Amino acid sequence: MRFLLLYLLYAVALSVGLAIAGLRTRRSAAPAASAAPGAARKSRQRVLVFGATGATGREVVRQGLERGHRVTAFVRNPAKLTQSHPDLTVITGNVHDRSAVLAAMKEQDAVISVLGHHAYYALGQPQTRATQNILRAVESERVGRFVCQTSLGIGDSAGRLGLLYTLFVIPTVLALYFWDKTGQERAIARSRVDWVIVRPAALINAPARGRWKAGDVGSFLVMARVSRADVASFLLDQLESDRYLRSTPGVCW
Ligand SMILES: NC(=O)c1ccc[n+]([C@@H]2O[C@H](COP(=O)([O-])OP(=O)(O)OC[C@H]3O[C@@H](n4cnc5c(N)ncnc54)[C@H](OP(=O)(O)O)[C@@H]3O)[C@@H](O)[C@H]2O)c1
Repeated sequence: MRFLLLYLLYAVALSVGLAIAGLRTRRSAAPAASAAPGAARKSRQRVLVFGATGATGREVVRQGLERGHRVTAFVRNPAKLTQSHPDLTVITGNVHDRSAVLAAMKEQDAVISVLGHHAYYALGQPQTRATQNILRAVESERVGRFVCQTSLGIGDSAGRLGLLYTLFVIPTVLALYFWDKTGQERAIARSRVDWVIVRPAALINAPARGRWKAGDVGSFLVMARVSRADVASFLLDQLESDRYLRSTPGVCW
């Protein structure tokens, strides 16, 4: 009983810590469709994608090319990228290699990061360090936009992945991983770049619905979900619209 109480105290304290450490840029929830209103930037862009071989990244690359962008995929292992397209360039590198990141950034209009890893107990904040590398290159090359995927559950979305995540999954498995994401968000907010941080609900590999809720979304009780295909669409919308500029919209079905 005492152990359970201590555990609950730890889980709640962690949630409060993630709320304080992450960003707070509250926006009201609004239904959105893939053609976001208020388009502010050119529709055909040179887009550099970090995490392009990942489950979300492959969707970002595929849909980015479909929208007519010229996409550069920054990957550790090109064999994992099965797509080919005349407007797709593949650059091999590690995001922790500053010079490789800087070289890839030349002549890009925008950057999307959907980086992630599964070493959930890793120390040393790899996501924050990777993001700092990207930010340095974005600033130095004066790239017009940085769209970065983190997660619901931090900053002003703390608790919004639902009770299962708040009381069990995050405290036992994702505490360091999510703490690292708060560092990522703070590094982005401190930068001089035009950024949008996108915080999805639990991701699933399901077909796109073409509809989602964006902004102040998620639930304190039940786990909200969204497909990677719809998140990819929302990420790409942020290249063309200023609606969520310098804010942290959540996205879920
Ligand atoms: N799963 C969820 O329910 C959920 C919910 C909300 C947010 N998120 C977040 O969304 C993001 C994307 O998720 P996902 O499931 O699409 O991720 P994923 O499939 O694990 O893909 C991660 C990508 O990052 C790349 N990467 C990792 N370290 C790298 C490095 N040092 N240099 C270059 N590339 C590197 C990986 O490359 P390799 O292919 O070479 O490994 C891969 O392409 C993650 O940050 C995740 O935490 C996930």
